[in-house]
Amino acid sequence: MSTRNLIILLLLCGGTSLHAQQKSSKPDAIDQKVEALLAKMTLEEKVGQMNQYTSDRLATGPLTPNSSKWQEIKDGKVGSLLNVRGAKETREVQALALQSRLKIPLLFGLDVIHGYRVTFPIPLGEAASWDLKAIELSARVAGREAAASGIHWTFAPMVDIARDPRWGRVMEGAGEDTYLGSQIAHARVRGFQGKGLGNLDAVMACVKHFAAYGAALAGRDYNTVDMSERQLWEVYLPPFKAALDEGAATFMNSFNELDGIPATGNKHLQRDILKGKWNYQGFVVSDWGSVSEMVAHGFAKDRKDAARLAVTAGSDMDMEGHSYLPNLIQLVQEKKVDVALIDDAVRRILRKKFEMGLFDDPYRFSDEKREVKEINSEANRKASREVARKSIVLLKNDNQLLPLSDKYRKIAVIGPLGKSNADMQGFWSVKWDNDRLVSLYEGLQNRSGKQTELLYSKGCNINDTSRAGFAEAVKTAQQADVVIMAVGETLDMSGEAKSRANIHIPGVQEELIKAVQTTGKPVVVLVMGGRPLIFNWTAEHANAILFTWWLGSEAGNAMADVLYGDYNPAGHLPMTFPREEGQIPLFYNEKSTGRPAPDGKSTPYRSSYLDVSNNPRYAFGYGLSYTNFDFSDLKLSKASITANENLTVTFTLKNTGNYAGEEVVQLYLQDPVASVTRPIKELKDFQKVYLKPGESKTITFTIDKEKLSFYDQQMNWTAEPGEFRLMIGNSSDHILLKDKFELVD
Ligand code: GLC
Repeated sequence: MSTRNLIILLLLCGGTSLHAQQKSSKPDAIDQKVEALLAKMTLEEKVGQMNQYTSDRLATGPLTPNSSKWQEIKDGKVGSLLNVRGAKETREVQALALQSRLKIPLLFGLDVIHGYRVTFPIPLGEAASWDLKAIELSARVAGREAAASGIHWTFAPMVDIARDPRWGRVMEGAGEDTYLGSQIAHARVRGFQGKGLGNLDAVMACVKHFAAYGAALAGRDYNTVDMSERQLWEVYLPPFKAALDEGAATFMNSFNELDGIPATGNKHLQRDILKGKWNYQGFVVSDWGSVSEMVAHGFAKDRKDAARLAVTAGSDMDMEGHSYLPNLIQLVQEKKVDVALIDDAVRRILRKKFEMGLFDDPYRFSDEKREVKEINSEANRKASREVARKSIVLLKNDNQLLPLSDKYRKIAVIGPLGKSNADMQGFWSVKWDNDRLVSLYEGLQNRSGKQTELLYSKGCNINDTSRAGFAEAVKTAQQADVVIMAVGETLDMSGEAKSRANIHIPGVQEELIKAVQTTGKPVVVLVMGGRPLIFNWTAEHANAILFTWWLGSEAGNAMADVLYGDYNPAGHLPMTFPREEGQIPLFYNEKSTGRPAPDGKSTPYRSSYLDVSNNPRYAFGYGLSYTNFDFSDLKLSKASITANENLTVTFTLKNTGNYAGEEVVQLYLQDPVASVTRPIKELKDFQKVYLKPGESKTITFTIDKEKLSFYDQQMNWTAEPGEFRLMIGNSSDHILLKDKFELVD
């Protein structure tokens, strides 16, 4: 039985439906408890539940000085705190809340985005693994560690589709594709919530940022988002629905406006779609200060107006907006807000606290003994290394320079990231003082035998123009048999409020590569960062290139595993890498237009540039292996299907190389003629397949009506009869098998 089916069985036996967030009709035991408690609450206590503050020690947004928060907690005026962590500290703060009249426990939230104590690769890096089990494992370990440290609620997964690498938060999501992003949303919610809320090793997931935050104009964080309803539904909403269908406990809205209305005050998003059409029963927390920021948006007159607009639109909890607590009571008294809206929000919040078992025992997650046992274990580090190896993408490997053979006795590690530990954790990691983050150099030390001598030279800094270290770096290279370069961004050059207009590898690092290259030594370049970067010279001239993202606690060991071939790299890009910023936004599933440019080349009177091809440097779905795979023998079960029939697609995959390894086989479809233009191709399925050298396997895909459907001119989700083109390959720009079939009435 597959893991997924096992989890479903466990959940159903445990009475916790997979769709806990879409309500059954009859009130259950928790409903009754919620109603009983609600009936006792004063309006002020109700509003208190809708109020969330940060602890001052770990601010993840602009801090508002607030000395009264600890007293307000005792007075029952706070429903949740974020950025409190640790069994001891959460217990202490919870004790304050239990001094309130009704002793309603606090929810403790934290951004456990890619690991709690043991850090995993940044989410965009994990997405490059295309390995749903590995991604679920990462979230499971993170959830377990966080729950053991008093955390009830992680503000993850971030499921924002992003097509613009200038936006620093691409590092936090699953890239540009809706299908891949939806599958990963399922996996991450499964991982964080485990066997369901109430289990001591489960934390509440929080799907964010609802919605379309990743489409910020010009890739500038917090910027305006404006798009058609069709694009919203086709590209940006599906991962949220996938997370909801997986039982995600909570949602977080977003900073951006959508079609002129800030998400936090957007009834269409939060009430019509999320709580209406999708019947979502959990609660929505605002993003940090996003309620009060509606004043700056020009959507609210003042914080009181913002509070009215936000609660009316379906924002249930005000994170650090300092707008609900001071205003909602008056708004109800002035009949500008119906108390029924307050009651609805508070019901949703209280329900989660009951489901988490906090009324039975408010301290159940704050157990210092369990904390010591659970976090930073060797098993958790082993899991991190496993996921990290799978996230690395081999972009180039001329003459099979990799894997490194033991004949290389002297290896030079050159570049500003060669010995960096801190950067390996990436943005959105929970910072620890003494955390063990394995650098590339240390990973090579751990792996290379006694007979290998490691040399090192920093060469230059990450982001300045000094070339003073070049000469020494060249000298170091000259003494070596092979050079491994480590270049890229610092951990805080991608992430929130880290948009970059120039996404070239920063500083003079590529010049350093050029200088080292003049030695004629074989050069392997490891590029580290939180987003697609531009490095055209390196792409053309380096012998081998690995993109390693930020790999977390076991980074150096995972990189060494791949460099030495202990693990055959199988990562594939979840996002397009452009040649120039001027091409952005550039994504694989674009429309044909009326004047498509053949092969993306610059062509008169065609949709192309005079100075750059339309083609990316590296395409969505691209990634190499140390072995080769052959795709053959494509068969379709039928030449045509009706809307209620399935089409079975099979082909043979063979490992024709000398290394065992995994291939990510990708199925793309095109609807070439439709009542609304369709993309030239769309990812509709994929499988990650492990084969030994010489081994073959028949791969099977099933195509159903769902995979052929889109929103027609009336926004009805439908599949239109006609021809469909089928493409199978190992990258969106490397299609190896093609065929077509008909959908008939
Ligand atoms: C931040 C982020 C959000 C995060 C929250 C709490 O501003 O936008 O993703 O969960 O505030 O840290």
